[in-house]
Amino acid sequence: MRTPIIAGNWKMYKTVGEAVDLVKALLAGLGSGHGREVVVCPPFTALYAVRPLLVGTGIALGAQNLYHEREGAFTGEIAPGMLVDVGCRYVIIGHSERRQYFTETDAGVNRKLKAALAAGLRPIMCVGESKPQRDAGEAEAIVTGQVGAGLVDISAAQMAEVVIAYEPIWAIGTGDTATPADAQAMHLAIRHTLGDMYGDAVAQSVRIQYGGSVKPDNIDELMAQPDIDGALVGGASLKADSFLRIVHYQ
Ligand code: 13P
Repeated sequence: MRTPIIAGNWKMYKTVGEAVDLVKALLAGLGSGHGREVVVCPPFTALYAVRPLLVGTGIALGAQNLYHEREGAFTGEIAPGMLVDVGCRYVIIGHSERRQYFTETDAGVNRKLKAALAAGLRPIMCVGESKPQRDAGEAEAIVTGQVGAGLVDISAAQMAEVVIAYEPIWAIGTGDTATPADAQAMHLAIRHTLGDMYGDAVAQSVRIQYGGSVKPDNIDELMAQPDIDGALVGGASLKADSFLRIVHYQ
């Protein structure tokens, strides 16, 4: 059984005070016994402030990026161990916004994945195709290629720590969600790729999130798909009521 995992990617939103307020509101409304893993990924500047609020609660802390070196003269970067130090359990790696605006490559994603795992962090590895790639019928090849390249030299044992997030670029922040059937088809293709790489048992155990305009009004049908194991939520994770409704999907 794969435990569903709902994560909020706050992107470049929320001051420290706003982040603390949002976490408090989430904790107040979360309840217990929902059987879902919940993660919030605030900006770096808010991690240290929200950590004490989350200790011993049902919400885990995640970061949105890291650098692959342990330490050194890398101005402006954040090391994996620094994220562990502020209480992070998860880290998003290879988000399409990083690939698009900060020239991240599959090889770079792979380096970051290895560094995260070595530090004891659980990577959420993002993959997804652009609109032109989908229109050209290349979506599945692009996405499964990103999965294979991102996971080079990652062992089957390490895959227990890895979450994959399928986020079609054209669905991010646009209100234009993939249909549940299209998302399911891609998740199944990703699972087949994992099966080719690691065997069926590992493929069946890895959690694959969907991301891209996930909202309270579409989460239920997305989560009803057999290979959708959670959501990576952007805009709708910035307000407690909408994120809580997503966490409490039917
Ligand atoms: P939206 O939910 O705002 O479309 O963002 C999705 C996303 O990029 C999550 O990582």
